[in-house]
Amino acid sequence: MNVLVTYFSQSGNTEKIAKAICEEAAHANKADLKKLEDITPDEAAGYDFIFIGSPLHSGSLAAPVKECLNAIQANSGQKLAGFITHFAPAYPEQEMDGFTEPIQKACKEKGIEYRGCFDCQGFLTESLHDTVQKKMNLTDEQWADMVKQMTGRPNEEDENSARTFAKKMLA
Ligand SMILES: Cc1cc2nc3c(=O)[nH]c(=O)nc-3n(C[C@H](O)[C@H](O)[C@H](O)COP(=O)(O)O)c2cc1C
Repeated sequence: MNVLVTYFSQSGNTEKIAKAICEEAAHANKADLKKLEDITPDEAAGYDFIFIGSPLHSGSLAAPVKECLNAIQANSGQKLAGFITHFAPAYPEQEMDGFTEPIQKACKEKGIEYRGCFDCQGFLTESLHDTVQKKMNLTDEQWADMVKQMTGRPNEEDENSARTFAKKMLA
């Protein structure tokens, strides 16, 4: 199988997961790792399986990822899976379904088989800490706990979970 792992990443978290997924995919397939900005809809159409990754931005997929999903070509032979990183420790399944809705919708509209989505925590860039702490109305102590939890994420365990996810998706 020809596998494309494409992603948008500003601070490297989603990229880390993309690399783990691509490494796993490369064991039994031809796998390419490409930043979203380096791939055209025409090129993406040539793959049998696409993994598409995004950070969560204000409770939604990042804008460039949504744009890419809109531009993706109809392809009934293709399969697709998503991966998302977010600073919150975990989201309930129902909320995750909401975040992946644009992926599922694009697949449905274009005849692509949607296979599922992986998600994990990723450290929030320092420059946004004050803003987010205020927005969430958290005390310094609560925020310090939050920072402790997200520090180092995605970690090795997250990368291994992403590899397991990729293996399952490609099986
Ligand atoms: C503008 C912006 C908005 C964000 N909004 C959310 C959010 O709504 N929920 C959340 O859990 N994380 C949010 N985050 C945190 C990122 O999703 C998280 O840090 C992610 O791992 C960053 O991935 P990247 O390093 O690949 O860019 C936001 C980050 C930024 C920069």
